Amino acid sequence: MRRVLVVDDEENIRLVLRTLLRKHGYEVELADSAESALALVDSFGPDVILTDVRMPKMSGLDLLATLKAKNALATVIVMSAYGSMDLALEAIKAGAYDYVSKPFKPDEVVLALRKAEERETLRRENRALKEQISQQAQFESMLAKSAPMVDVFKTIAKIADFKTTVLVTGESGVGKELVARALHSRSSRKGGPFVAINCGAIPENLLESELFGHKKGAFTDATSDKRGLFEEATNGTLFLDEIGELPLNLQVKLLRVLQEENIRRLGDSRDVKVDVRIVAATHRDLAAEVSAGRFREDLFYRINVLHVAIPPLRERREDVPLLVDHFVAKNNARLGTNIRGLSPEARKILLEYGWPGNVRELENTIERAMVLCESDTIGAGDLPERVRAALDPVQVQLRSGELSVKKTVAAVEQILIRRALQKTRGNRTRAAELLEISHRALLYKIKDYKIEE
Ligand SMILES: Nc1ncnc2c1ncn2[C@@H]1O[C@H](COP(=O)(O)OP(=O)(O)OP(=O)(O)O)[C@@H](O)[C@H]1O
Ligand SMILES: [Mg+2]
Repeated sequence: MRRVLVVDDEENIRLVLRTLLRKHGYEVELADSAESALALVDSFGPDVILTDVRMPKMSGLDLLATLKAKNALATVIVMSAYGSMDLALEAIKAGAYDYVSKPFKPDEVVLALRKAEERETLRRENRALKEQISQQAQFESMLAKSAPMVDVFKTIAKIADFKTTVLVTGESGVGKELVARALHSRSSRKGGPFVAINCGAIPENLLESELFGHKKGAFTDATSDKRGLFEEATNGTLFLDEIGELPLNLQVKLLRVLQEENIRRLGDSRDVKVDVRIVAATHRDLAAEVSAGRFREDLFYRINVLHVAIPPLRERREDVPLLVDHFVAKNNARLGTNIRGLSPEARKILLEYGWPGNVRELENTIERAMVLCESDTIGAGDLPERVRAALDPVQVQLRSGELSVKKTVAAVEQILIRRALQKTRGNRTRAAELLEISHRALLYKIKDYKIEE
């Protein structure tokens, strides 16, 4: 931001400012009235307009209002003489960025410009960030374009740089770890370490020394001093995965650490200050865990200050095609395969399936299909049975929303009978055996359901 338009009816001030600002590397234009300033705005394209408030015809306030109405991008800083402070404040209310009181010291003007410059950079970055989020369907290493995921991305961008603890929740495989990593890489701690620990995967007796470290001799196997993960993560982010699995006695200790930002190694007598941002994740409903007495309420409130909830894949099916194409491309590069895509039928199946294992299950399904696939297109036959069953009429019936037991059983019964007859090529005796009903009952049902052979 290097262009400044100076507006003042006093020639002296204009000239002083021109000399001063040129010395600091700004490109400067002068206007002796608001009217002539407006004429210059389009041709000069100033980044900052430094204007007097009190001028003979149009005032600085009028200039500000006209610029606003024109949606001009320039940042406005007003100058007001001692005694017209009220006008300066009015200008700020009307959208001026800052004011400088006259008579001014050169430093004050330069400082105000620098501040405006910083703000402009931030504004530009924010604008770029917003565009990136809305256009690219990619945020850090995550892909998604569904409305709830775009909200997740926006939330991450907003809260990344605070030190406040974040709780990330969602079913298995929805991308909780990716969110934790995005929170880290969008923060000013990104140059520091990202340390992850799965609280459910480490035996209880080792977990404490893992987290907080120990002194030599603290317990039988402690043959030397050891830094814990809190210390390892200093100036970075500590990702406490599956926090719901943390044993109750460690919950107490964790709470203490979060409150005091101090840790004490096992067997040590002194505290160490740690500067760590905590991101915790769980697939459990922690509020329910609290009610059940398995999770401490005070710790729950301490970690649940900022919450990012990732919706399951079945609630954001628009993301499926995007993820499918991404995983195909990724695996082509990794496996050296040359798969072009999926048959329409295979696509339809992937779109309909319920994905209990979420994105991870989708990723594994694609990889498996690519390995099995014998042509350059993944077909329905390359998909696992449980996924293909998504188009199974029984599944379709169950998903229809019908609640009547009678109707649902009848519909499912017909499907099973047709299937058994198909399998036995119309042999009713064997079909009845497969269906585990009597021969007579089968004959009756075939008639009742008007099943043709
Ligand atoms: N939006 C996404 N874009 C691209 N890849 C994704 C996305 N979400 C998840 N993945 C991928 O899916 C897999 C599972 O993600 P991640 O490990 O973050 O999930 P999780 O919620 O931590 O799972 P778990 O509860 O099983 O630990 C990873 O391989 C990850 O790269
Ligand atoms: Mg995980």
